[in-house]
Amino acid sequence: MKIAIGNDHAAGELKTTIMDLISELGHEIIDVGAPIGEAIDYPIPGEKVGRLVASGEADLGVLICGTGVGISLAANKVKGIRAAAVSDTATARLIREHNNANVIAIGARIVGSELAKDIIKTFLTTDFSGEERHQRRIDLISDAEERFGK
Ligand code: RB5
Repeated sequence: MKIAIGNDHAAGELKTTIMDLISELGHEIIDVGAPIGEAIDYPIPGEKVGRLVASGEADLGVLICGTGVGISLAANKVKGIRAAAVSDTATARLIREHNNANVIAIGARIVGSELAKDIIKTFLTTDFSGEERHQRRIDLISDAEERFGK
């Protein structure tokens, strides 16, 4: 798969650890985040990763900021993006199985690097269940997105 990754200045070091893991898992990486030591406002990489995933240029997205929250909020402004900030592996699995999340966000100031690797590995190796009830709920989210501003 092609994985888009983005981060702000709170997450440069964890981003390199996560990029190593993603490469080890055999995926291609599109990195639009801040290099270590460079400051960037989290909405910028959040939106960039969202656009790469929404356009199909990337299959899934990984975002990292201090908490994982701000950068996921930015990604969720892109139509078609279902991004979730996650701090545990069970949620990482369930956002794929139930929500078909296409972007995951983690907080470099919240989650240690070993847990972060487990979370990302779980996200990248879990598929959407495809069950009707889950698809119906995701479709309701897409419907709301279509109705926005109307
Ligand atoms: C940056 O200091 C910090 O606010 C940011 O990384 C993130 O935690 C926002 O949600």
